[in-house]
Amino acid sequence: AATTRYEVESAPAVCSGAIASNHSGYSGSGFCDTANAVGSAVQFTVSTPTAGTATLAIRYANGTTTNRPADISVNGTTVQSGLGFEGTGAWNVWATKSLPVQLNAGTTTVRLAATTAGGLGNIDYVEV
Ligand code: GCU
Repeated sequence: AATTRYEVESAPAVCSGAIASNHSGYSGSGFCDTANAVGSAVQFTVSTPTAGTATLAIRYANGTTTNRPADISVNGTTVQSGLGFEGTGAWNVWATKSLPVQLNAGTTTVRLAATTAGGLGNIDYVEV
């Protein structure tokens, strides 16, 4: 099925940090640079006409050599703890992490919350 892209800089997405554009290769007009702290988060509201399992793809960059894991929650329930967002080699090198998620008919809230002091990697968008 076709996927829909949800840019982190476009409402109703929430970036608990700054929308930045100082590293190339992002989609849209920027990416979310969260604080380097446990609990730093981004949140997306995705819409699908029918309920069911779908693949959530998260585009990110991590220019460090340290993993920046995140708890992934769907409608407030953690569905994956500590999903790894490993180093991508540089801040302008982007990679995608995918996982299956259960969607509602209508809107579904997807949240990524950092579990380590590094915070999240830079987050560009999700696709569902
Ligand atoms: C650097 C980089 C940022 C990144 C940050 C971090 O400052 O320029 O884009 O978000 O490191 O460590 O998270």
